[in-house]
Amino acid sequence: MTESRALEGQFAIVVGGSSGVGEATARLLAAEGASVLIAGRDEQRLAAALERIDGGDAVTGQRLDGADPAAIAAFFEGIGRPVDHLVLALSGAAGAGPISALDPKDLAAGFDGKFWPFLHLLQAALPRLSVDGSVTFVTAASANAAFPGTAGLAAINGALQAMVPPLAVELAPLRINAVSPGVIDTPWWDRVPAAHRAELFEGLAATTPAGRVGRAEDVAQVIRMLVGNTFMTGTVINCTGGANLPTGR
Ligand SMILES: NC(=O)c1ccc[n+]([C@@H]2O[C@H](COP(=O)([O-])OP(=O)(O)OC[C@H]3O[C@@H](n4cnc5c(N)ncnc54)[C@H](OP(=O)(O)O)[C@@H]3O)[C@@H](O)[C@H]2O)c1
Repeated sequence: MTESRALEGQFAIVVGGSSGVGEATARLLAAEGASVLIAGRDEQRLAAALERIDGGDAVTGQRLDGADPAAIAAFFEGIGRPVDHLVLALSGAAGAGPISALDPKDLAAGFDGKFWPFLHLLQAALPRLSVDGSVTFVTAASANAAFPGTAGLAAINGALQAMVPPLAVELAPLRINAVSPGVIDTPWWDRVPAAHRAELFEGLAATTPAGRVGRAEDVAQVIRMLVGNTFMTGTVINCTGGANLPTGR
């Protein structure tokens, strides 16, 4: 079998590319011939990810805090070539919990950690993006489901998803899409103690039609399709193993 190099000559930036979904995406895009720049806040995390991805000169890393608009502007000013694909995979964590206990300040921090960074990154990238390129948001299935305790996360990710169709028309022929993952076993979950995490994943796997939680590669494969399929724009694709399907409860 010959290796596909369908993305040869193309340049992609993956913000949040030093871990989880972003890292798996960078690996996949590079394996298909793209040059990939991964960005994240922590230098050591970037270096470790570059080593794991093992993409040679095709994959580079650069520090960037997506919550810092001045840093974002400087980052894109320093990009000396057209950007074919922008993947926004950085994660926020604030804004979860039952509504009765949700501090509005925590929800605002959730928007600061994800919604505003995505918006600022998109705006700053626009002058550098190839007209026939693509932008992919990584949102979250909380926006399309009814999981108790996720109303805040649904608000943040739903706001991003709501922007996808109008942006796809406004910015055409640039393509804008989103992938909306369910629970994915990535370092994002390191904040939950290991024993509790294992129990949680087991419970979720048992109630998910696919019978397991997701892997970063599951989501990366959807992103790869959205990046490469020039007939895809304005869509939000669930990647949940069926976990967001209504149960009629
Ligand atoms: N894992 C899940 O179960 C799940 C479910 C639904 C949706 N999602 C969404 O999927 C996306 C990827 O999540 P993941 O699970 O892959 O998370 P992850 O493993 O924690 O990776 C997050 C990445 O984002 C970077 N990052 C975080 N804040 C940043 C900032 N302000 N500026 C730049 N980079 C930043 C991190 O590096 P630094 O910390 O070094 O900056 C890291 O590279 C996120 O948008 C998340 O909300 C995940």
